[in-house]
Amino acid sequence: MLENAILVTGAGRRIGFHIAKRLHQDGQQVVAHYRTHTAEIQALSDLGITTVQADLADTDSILTFIDDLKTKVSSFRALIHNASSFEPTAVSLQQAAEQYDVFYTIHMKAPYLINQALQSMLKGKEDMPADIINITDINVENPTPRFDIYGTTKAGLHNMTLVLAKKYAPNIKVNAIAPGPVLFTDQHSDQVRQQMLDETLLAKEGGAEPVYLAITSLLNNPFITGASIPVDGGRRLSKR
Ligand SMILES: NC(=O)c1ccc[n+]([C@@H]2O[C@H](COP(=O)([O-])OP(=O)(O)OC[C@H]3O[C@@H](n4cnc5c(N)ncnc54)[C@H](OP(=O)(O)O)[C@@H]3O)[C@@H](O)[C@H]2O)c1
Repeated sequence: MLENAILVTGAGRRIGFHIAKRLHQDGQQVVAHYRTHTAEIQALSDLGITTVQADLADTDSILTFIDDLKTKVSSFRALIHNASSFEPTAVSLQQAAEQYDVFYTIHMKAPYLINQALQSMLKGKEDMPADIINITDINVENPTPRFDIYGTTKAGLHNMTLVLAKKYAPNIKVNAIAPGPVLFTDQHSDQVRQQMLDETLLAKEGGAEPVYLAITSLLNNPFITGASIPVDGGRRLSKR
């Protein structure tokens, strides 16, 4: 059984993969969650990292995932909710209804159920509470209409950060990290990428490492809870 483990959801690619790999490099016990078994998950597994599969858009799969975690882990140092689905809202009402269920379940229901089920297993130290870290988005404060269901459900995760900071204090800190243009996706055309860079004070795509640095700063700070740290190069301040 793993002790003081850090769970990273959505570790099969990009930012989640980077977080899991860097935590492992820094000597943490990592549990890497994935939906799709990717080459990155195989690489984490080859490093000796425990990997656990679940579809976090499906309630039964979330509950099985929690049971599975309890057979592998005896205590957690932190839970990092990174898994996410990102796409523009569908035009068709039927498709939008389906998207809403998926976004709501991944961004809000899954973190909520995992937190509630595992909160008693989250163990800090005398001078350092345990951590829950929600990866949200700068869309929470300045949402994009084309991605309104995505942004709305991420805003729900932001609000959950505030209420669970109250509910789980003083033994668990609950914070959010709100990335801006960290890693572009296939959704971003060249034109959109350039526009985003023009709107970003620090004028570049940030990369996954600044997200990891924000995570370590929260893990190492005993007196921050209910906060949201923007990792956005200042894009939230731009007019858009
Ligand atoms: N990239 C950015 O610049 C940026 C900006 C703002 C906020 N963020 C936030 O930062 C986090 C990481 O971003 P990213 O760009 O690395 O995200 P990403 O490339 O979209 O990866 C999302 C991860 O979540 C997993 N996932 C999706 N649907 C799932 C489901 N139903 N069940 C379980 N896992 C599921 C994916 O697994 P599969 O491989 O199976 O799909 C993948 O590993 C996200 O929370 C995102 O909202 C990122």
